[in-house]
Amino acid sequence: MRRIAISVVTSTMILSLAGCGVLDGVGGGASASPTKGDDVTVGLLLPEKANTRYDKFDYPIIKNQVAQLTDKKGRVEYANADANAARQGDQMRKMIADRVDVILLDAVDAHAIAGEVRKAKAAGIPVIAYDRLAEGPIDAYISFDNDLVGEVQARTLLEALGSGVDSSDKIVMINGSPTDPNARQFKEGALSELNGKVTIAKSYDTKDWKPEIAQQEMADAIASIGKDNIAAVYSANDGMAGGVINALEAAGVTKLPPITGQDAELDAVRRVLTGEQYMSVYKSYPDEAEAAAQMAVTKVQGKDIQFDALTQDHVNSPTDKNIPAKLVQVSALTKDRIKDTVIADDIYTVADICTAKYHAACAAAGLK
Ligand code: GAL
Repeated sequence: MRRIAISVVTSTMILSLAGCGVLDGVGGGASASPTKGDDVTVGLLLPEKANTRYDKFDYPIIKNQVAQLTDKKGRVEYANADANAARQGDQMRKMIADRVDVILLDAVDAHAIAGEVRKAKAAGIPVIAYDRLAEGPIDAYISFDNDLVGEVQARTLLEALGSGVDSSDKIVMINGSPTDPNARQFKEGALSELNGKVTIAKSYDTKDWKPEIAQQEMADAIASIGKDNIAAVYSANDGMAGGVINALEAAGVTKLPPITGQDAELDAVRRVLTGEQYMSVYKSYPDEAEAAAQMAVTKVQGKDIQFDALTQDHVNSPTDKNIPAKLVQVSALTKDRIKDTVIADDIYTVADICTAKYHAACAAAGLK
């Protein structure tokens, strides 16, 4: 954590220097021979629509940042695969044919897309893996510290179980999609905190993160373990947490066990407020999406110092080693942290969260 925190601080400092032109003044970013002016086209491929973050935050933030960085001359060519890996392959091939200058790729299937990454590179188009690592010769990677996401989820779940937690307490794990490298990191991070402290009675990997599949998996777990024998549920994200809650309530559970999530989706923030969901993970989409736009634009403009300042970390993929990267910090979103996360960062307003049904819960949490 400290290592990443230091690198984040360093890169942020360098970036701000670059931002105010100091680096340029010392023969910085502009020194590299710019290969492109402000008329850049960024291809943006996002994975799905079930999770609201992509169309609500990632796409508009990246689009606005590209415009800001290019004096409104740059543009974003956007496609959402709606969780269909074959469709994403078609979308990427179209962007290559359209000769976009750089691609930001959030892969539905990190392994299956490798061939298209190779085609993009062969066409001279850099590919930056966004949020999810992709196989093939990518130029850089930006995401959240996904191992830390899992650790934070698990630590918060154990806090919810309290000092009386026993290693025989049965937990159900509803993990993310097996084609998403993030899902494996979330799971491994969580297990590094849970192993030996509780019993993982049932564990599922959920195709394409689909909430309706998560609901079926939870129903299966309830049938297997017994609705009153489940101490807590680890759900890897908020969308699936909704399916978990539906299954528990359909089985007649009236007092929900602690349930985790991530993404700070609006429905989930409300569930955290009322106690239906114990926590989510706050991931600052502006921090990730703005940095991704900066990486893409500096890459195609040949501003190597700014690009290097943004990629102080390095990661390995199954096909490539030592990939320049940036990993953004995350934090637990529990009831007492709504104000200083999603509200403080203007992700939501109090009015967004506190609709009529939630007025009492908001007042109790000091949200007004
Ligand atoms: C992951 C992403 C998370 C999660 C999931 C569902 O790759 O990092 O934000 O919500 O996809 O889209």
